[in-house]
Amino acid sequence: MAIFDTSFVLILISIVFMSIAPSSTCLKLTDTEIKHLCSKTNNLGDCYKLLKSDPHTANVDARGLVEVSVDLASNKANKTHSLINSFVNTTHDSRLKNIYKLCSSNYNDIIRDLKGIKNYLHSGAYKNIHVQVKDASEEIKQCKKVFGGASSDHAHIKKKNKEFEFILSIVDVTSDNLNKK
Ligand SMILES: *[C@@H]1O[C@H](CO)[C@@H](O)[C@H](O)[C@H]1NC(C)=O
Ligand SMILES: *[C@@H]1O[C@H](CO)[C@@H](O)[C@H](O)[C@H]1NC(C)=O
Repeated sequence: MAIFDTSFVLILISIVFMSIAPSSTCLKLTDTEIKHLCSKTNNLGDCYKLLKSDPHTANVDARGLVEVSVDLASNKANKTHSLINSFVNTTHDSRLKNIYKLCSSNYNDIIRDLKGIKNYLHSGAYKNIHVQVKDASEEIKQCKKVFGGASSDHAHIKKKNKEFEFILSIVDVTSDNLNKK
């Protein structure tokens, strides 16, 4: 009877373990899985290329892929923020200067949101990530809106806003995937 109990428990443990393992977030993502996630953005090819531009992507699990996406977004936001700030100082047209200032503060908040996403990612509070993504998305919409009225765009902010929005959509898709695990 004692032997039966032990093997029963062992079988039970294996069954439980096998049913958990396939959905575990510790599994390395395949290219097919990454492409499947990218198919949920509006440009599979660009999404895949962007993610693959980071060497970490060759060896990440679902959570690691969110980290890669957030780093790409953070890098883009930081660069655009610095660029906008430099234009704030060198632009004499007061209307345009004001537009740059507004967008600079939008990017400032975006950078804060991205930091928040990283914190939630590390603490495991994945469900909170979506709100931060939405917040960043609202900020970029505001910058796009004020730039709609700009007389010139020497810093190519419109293009950079679009590029950032796309990377943010990748963060959205990859982090959404964590909630399904
Ligand atoms: C972007 O800037 C923030 C704040 O200065 C910094 O914490 C973060 O590491 C930067 N991200 C990248 C990818 O350089
Ligand atoms: C813009 O000018 C302010 C005040 O003159 C200065 O503190 C700041 O570093 C400048 N920023 C950039 C990005 O050049």
